Amino acid sequence: MKVIKSCLLLVVLAVISCNTNKKEVSELKTEQFSPQAVLDLNAIKTKKTLKGLSDFGRFPRNIDKDKKNWNFVGVKDWCSGFWPGVLWYAYEASGDEYIKSQAEKFTNSIKSIAYTPAENHDIGFMVNCSYGNAYRLTGNQEYKEVLLAAADTLATLFNPKVGTILSWPSQVHKFKHNTIIDNMMNLELLFWAAKNGDNKGLYDLARSHANQTMKYIVRKDNAVYHVGSFDEDSGKFLKGCTHQGYTDESMWARGQTWGIYGFSVAYRETGEQEFLDTAIKLSDHYINRLPEDGIPYWDFDDPKIPNAPRDASAAAIAACGMLELSKLVNTEELRLKYEAAAKGYIEALSSDKYLSGDVNQALLLHSTGHYPKNSEIDVPIIYADYYYMEALLRLKKMQQSKQKLNAMSAK
Ligand code: GLY
Repeated sequence: MKVIKSCLLLVVLAVISCNTNKKEVSELKTEQFSPQAVLDLNAIKTKKTLKGLSDFGRFPRNIDKDKKNWNFVGVKDWCSGFWPGVLWYAYEASGDEYIKSQAEKFTNSIKSIAYTPAENHDIGFMVNCSYGNAYRLTGNQEYKEVLLAAADTLATLFNPKVGTILSWPSQVHKFKHNTIIDNMMNLELLFWAAKNGDNKGLYDLARSHANQTMKYIVRKDNAVYHVGSFDEDSGKFLKGCTHQGYTDESMWARGQTWGIYGFSVAYRETGEQEFLDTAIKLSDHYINRLPEDGIPYWDFDDPKIPNAPRDASAAAIAACGMLELSKLVNTEELRLKYEAAAKGYIEALSSDKYLSGDVNQALLLHSTGHYPKNSEIDVPIIYADYYYMEALLRLKKMQQSKQKLNAMSAK
């Protein structure tokens, strides 16, 4: 069966590679796309990469231009949890026990982060992407304990005067309390812990963080600031600015997608209409400004466009966020709109322009990490692979539930 699916994918990819122009990729008949076929290939590739790795305290982060192999970081790097997360997704897609055994080892290496005083919000990315998936797929209570501890550690960064988590320490900007749009992604850990542990107060804290982010970091033009700076004593909002974008008022692609995904989850967890409205506004603005092939430039306002680098990671995050959103909206029209948009991004990422194939060890090419710092520009980055695997799995599950419904209604 897997062979048949892989052959189908190869046919699809061959069609795409014969028609490399963007328009034809976007016109590819969506029914032809099989997320499982891509997942199969990705799992095989991930397993091959794994076989060359023996140090479970070193985590793939990026690949230099024109190089084949991952560069590694230590456990304290904000990206450490994405590699174990990729492994858990590859295990989920394939059922391969070897991948699972390695996922466990890399995950266990992250444990100390949950018990070390937090310096920034990234503890959520590190622990939730590794332990969160580990617990979801195994139900192992030890994983749950680590997740609950990580949520409590993250919560120590909450400033009640501001009503948000301190995302980054003051050295990054001159202001004392910086809250960034990326931090919306780490509320999921707090909402989960409030439901599954004893610290019910984590719910209010996550809700407050989402509210303040919506009030101050989401702009009137429906784009987002990367950073919101607040006075740590009075809680007063001081300034919206950027760290990784082109300018303070530009639209940094990945920031917008952190917002789309983060506010969708905030609505799912709270039922607050304003969070849903925000997720919709951010999504629509993003969709309206995208280039034709559905993969954003790193910043929508870089004057070098169309000669600016893309950010495949933002497309993968947008796909996950919009698939989540499509389950939450209350009209069929909106559901179809976000589902189709997400599917289009996943298909574009799965074309030979973005899928790495034999080029290097990563799954995806063409992500941009920190353009203003001249760092990780137009290269593979691990979080692109992580959200790409998540998006493929989400799409597969949605297709499966639709097939089940169709089969039931045909009875
Ligand atoms: N700061 C996390 C990111 O680069 O999106």
